[in-house]
Amino acid sequence: MCGIVGGVAERNISEILIEGLKRLEYRGYDSAGLALINEQQVLRERRVGKVVNLEDAVRTQNLSGNLGIAHTRWATHGKPSEVNAHPHISGKVAIVHNGIIENYAEIKAELEALGYQFSSQTDTEVVAHLIAEALKTQATLFDAVQQIVPRLKGAFALGVIHADYPDELIAVRENSPLVIGVGIGEHFIGSDQLALLPITNRFIYLEEGDIARLTRTNVEIFAHGTNRIERPIKELDAAVSHASKGEYKHFMLKEIYEQPEALQQTISQALNGNRLRDDFLSHAEQDFSNIDQIQIIACGTSYHAGMIAKYWSEQLIDLPCQVEIASEFRYRSPVIMNRTLYLCISQSGETADSLAALRDTQKRAKAKDLNITTMAICNVATSSMVRETDYHLLTLAGPEIGVASTKAFTTQLAALILLILKIGTAKQRLDEAEIDCIVKGLWHCPKVLSETLQHNQEILRLSELFVEKQHCLFLGRGTLYPIALEGALKLKEISYIHAEGYAAGELKHGPLALVDNDMPVVILAPQDSMLDKLKSNMEEVQARGGELFIFADENSGIVEKDRQHVVKIPHISAWLAPIVYSIPVQLLSYHVAVLRGTDVDQPRNLAKSVTVE
Ligand code: AGP
Repeated sequence: MCGIVGGVAERNISEILIEGLKRLEYRGYDSAGLALINEQQVLRERRVGKVVNLEDAVRTQNLSGNLGIAHTRWATHGKPSEVNAHPHISGKVAIVHNGIIENYAEIKAELEALGYQFSSQTDTEVVAHLIAEALKTQATLFDAVQQIVPRLKGAFALGVIHADYPDELIAVRENSPLVIGVGIGEHFIGSDQLALLPITNRFIYLEEGDIARLTRTNVEIFAHGTNRIERPIKELDAAVSHASKGEYKHFMLKEIYEQPEALQQTISQALNGNRLRDDFLSHAEQDFSNIDQIQIIACGTSYHAGMIAKYWSEQLIDLPCQVEIASEFRYRSPVIMNRTLYLCISQSGETADSLAALRDTQKRAKAKDLNITTMAICNVATSSMVRETDYHLLTLAGPEIGVASTKAFTTQLAALILLILKIGTAKQRLDEAEIDCIVKGLWHCPKVLSETLQHNQEILRLSELFVEKQHCLFLGRGTLYPIALEGALKLKEISYIHAEGYAAGELKHGPLALVDNDMPVVILAPQDSMLDKLKSNMEEVQARGGELFIFADENSGIVEKDRQHVVKIPHISAWLAPIVYSIPVQLLSYHVAVLRGTDVDQPRNLAKSVTVE
């Protein structure tokens, strides 16, 4: 997804902007550009492809400036090309933009009638021309931006500079993330704080509708674009600032291996010995005791985590739980239910569909005077989702850079089971013995994850058998059904092999027709009450010539035979099996992708944080 970096300083900031863009590369993009103000001129460079191409151009031409904006573009309107790359310019105005201007066509027609010529197919260029037009009547750059923002419909973040304003950077946040980095005698903007971490750990988080005017020494913020407001400066601790691949070839592999530690961190915040800590979500206890059901809203991998929580909620604490994909939920006018916990799950906390679903739910509950509770399970403490919900529970996974979600997912699962335990306690639906059993299992889980990771070489060998395949099936039952979906998502997103996840009981209802000699079928077989039924499903596949790749509990009795490969997974209680069985499907996808030579950390067409629809 697009990334913005900008700054105003006493020093030359071209290198800082390039470094900032590099730190946003993980989000996915197709072109990059930068504009600097130098001696009352806009100097602009744009390149298709990687940021390093832009860096070479900037170095070769020795471009410098104390004020500038930079951008990585992920095409929405107009193909990836140099002319469509940002910044866009109109006269002395240069802008970068994240998000979408929905009414750009109408504005474009109006501007064309006024004689403006468009050099790109983007929705962004209208904003540059609108500001240039407003400057004909407005006294300052800030006034011009303030005047045109209400005309723009959609979700957007903007960075604006002007050749005649060498100490002024204007920033706009409207439903697309943007933070201000506070330096010493200098200020910066970034669509993700990660971009600015080499220069500062002090941030101001803009709110939706804010317009900010940054100079070297000052920041002025206007809520809804008009009312001067002070927003607090927040300091990040040093741990957040670390994001490097270290000894690993890819971020994804590093993040897979970080899971035991990430899980440990996530559970430690909630547990004291074999009990929930007294202060764990204690401020939410009253609300939790009053809910009649849970509605989970999420996208992609986070949605799969939600699907598993449904099993836990209904089986462990007898509490109805629905799960829905945010992009569907937000548009189908769902009935908003009283006494319900609306739970958003998101790694980033900035996913456009999930946020829109949350906001719409809040609005509609308020209009009907309903008693709902909102909550986020999220990996980014400063995200919009965390700030806009009644309660939150953080997954302490640390920054996840690889587009494919790995440690964010398993820590979401840990957070979800902790939440279910908390709600069950608040509603007095769990006794001490049940809690004790699950909590003991949770403490044991990091060790089991580490042991499972030791099967890496075995899984690498199996992955060689997938390299030439076109299709693949993943099967599981119960809480392993969502892991089958997650395995298929992982494989398709990073190796580009078509994969489907199915509840194994559905096999006969259609997908069995796909099974032949050439179809690898991955089976998730923990030691649970469904194991015998799963074994029958495996026989159905074998009878049709399918090749089985089974991740099976070490006590399951499932053994290797012709066209049946088995990786033995350490025993774990059925409740926690989905956490452990995530590891082999992640490793399998990773190795297949590496062997196929794809861009593992930044797979084609995808972005880490999907901040537009
Ligand atoms: C999965 O590997 C993807 N990264 C994707 O499905 C992701 O889970 C989805 O886009 C939701 O993102 P979020 O958790 O940041 O809301």
